Amino acid sequence: MRFDLDYCIGEFDKGLRVLWGDPTARRPTPAQAVPEDNLDDGERRRAAALMRVNHCGEVCAQALYQGQALASRSEDIKAALVNAAREEADHLAWSAERVRELGGRLSALNFFWYAGSLALGYAAGRFGDRWNLGFLAETERQVEQHLQGHIERLAGRDARTLSVIRAMQQEEAGHRRTAEALGARELPEPVRRGMRLAARLMTTLSYRI
Ligand SMILES: [Fe+2]
Ligand SMILES: [Fe+2]
Repeated sequence: MRFDLDYCIGEFDKGLRVLWGDPTARRPTPAQAVPEDNLDDGERRRAAALMRVNHCGEVCAQALYQGQALASRSEDIKAALVNAAREEADHLAWSAERVRELGGRLSALNFFWYAGSLALGYAAGRFGDRWNLGFLAETERQVEQHLQGHIERLAGRDARTLSVIRAMQQEEAGHRRTAEALGARELPEPVRRGMRLAARLMTTLSYRI
């Protein structure tokens, strides 16, 4: 790991942009050509809350990847993390855009989740590359399942939100497969359970706050 000042400023700047910048996607949102359904106020509020949770998840993803890349010694893994983080940056922008379209707001707790995820990602990276990849693969697997839950909750309503969630879910599966192909180890069940608990705390709070 390098400790030069430019590098540290660059990493700090990344965090500021994730938390307080106006995220811009490299690719247009999957909702681009999808017409808006005729949603009532309750449906809009609930969909905005779901997308606020997903935006918060993407904030965490940015921090996890950043922490993991900082701690990893392998250039291959750093490259895979940077590539995945680019797609996650689009997810961040797409979900923020959909929250705004639905008249919602982003989570007020993003800073805390970002800081916690950065520390967690860094810690995972310090366990060595195969555990680092295992943590990445398990995170993506849990995100895929979580997004499936949102697809089911929307029950075919709100095609624009669904198109964003489905595109993200597909790419999270791609990130998981990349980690598996690079040699991810399967995490012990207590660790996976701990991750699920932390995720539940995050999703429950960010749905409301
Ligand atoms: Fe994502
Ligand atoms: Fe991902």
